[in-house]
Amino acid sequence: MASYLEIADDSKGHELDLFCVPKHYEEDLDSVIIPNGLIKDRNPSMDISGITSASFNERMHVTFSTAAVLNWAERLARDIVRDMGGHHIVALCVLKGGYKFFADLMDYIKTLNQNSDESVPLTVDFIRLKSYSNDESTNCVKVIGGDELSALAGKNVLIVEDIVETGKTMETLLKLLNECRPKMVKVVSLLVKRTPRSSGYRPDYIGFEVPDKFLVGYALDYNEYFRDLSHICILSEKAKEKYKV
Ligand code: IMP
Ligand code: MG
Repeated sequence: MASYLEIADDSKGHELDLFCVPKHYEEDLDSVIIPNGLIKDRNPSMDISGITSASFNERMHVTFSTAAVLNWAERLARDIVRDMGGHHIVALCVLKGGYKFFADLMDYIKTLNQNSDESVPLTVDFIRLKSYSNDESTNCVKVIGGDELSALAGKNVLIVEDIVETGKTMETLLKLLNECRPKMVKVVSLLVKRTPRSSGYRPDYIGFEVPDKFLVGYALDYNEYFRDLSHICILSEKAKEKYKV
């Protein structure tokens, strides 16, 4: 199992006024749980060298599964290329929530391709699924757009997802995809929620394991709002009412 960052259940996140948050969302968020810089590990203001994981843990309210995961996005890209390389990879972005993570992860894989002796051809595909209404997963997962899955026959497919909660969406997509006989399928999810509603499904690669809260930002939405927010934040109960459909 690849390493991932674990964000504790009692983590309160970080105060909003420490970060740049759009004015129109200031009243809607409880806290920032994963700053954009931590997702990308590219933020020069987040110099974590010399900070032990314990003190970093105190400051950021996260616990580390291993010390090595500080550069986890690059690590993920490296693990993916190691496991799937040698054959053309088709990266399948699950829209809309996966698009930010997809773009950043593709950049890391591209950089690896540019800077190493071995490289792997990478093409991209998109699929659109819908399973959510308000803050609840519905039992009905619908493919509502995107490319034909049949084009993935015989390919090494990397599914890129924003968040796995119950696991139903991914289980449904995997079933549909396997009918098209790809050569290999791996799933990378930016987030996995620790929840009693989980079916037990775990992706092959995970960025962060998060508490059972409704999260928005970095392309994750609540009824289409909050995709225009850089950091991953905890949505307030009041906002769930405000943006309810
Ligand atoms: P699952 O089928 O319950 O695993 O849910 C997966 C999908 O529900 C994800 O791809 C998201 O689109 C959506 N989802 C689940 N939890 C959240 C959340 O906390 N914020 C935003 N979207 C979520
Ligand atoms: Mg999704």
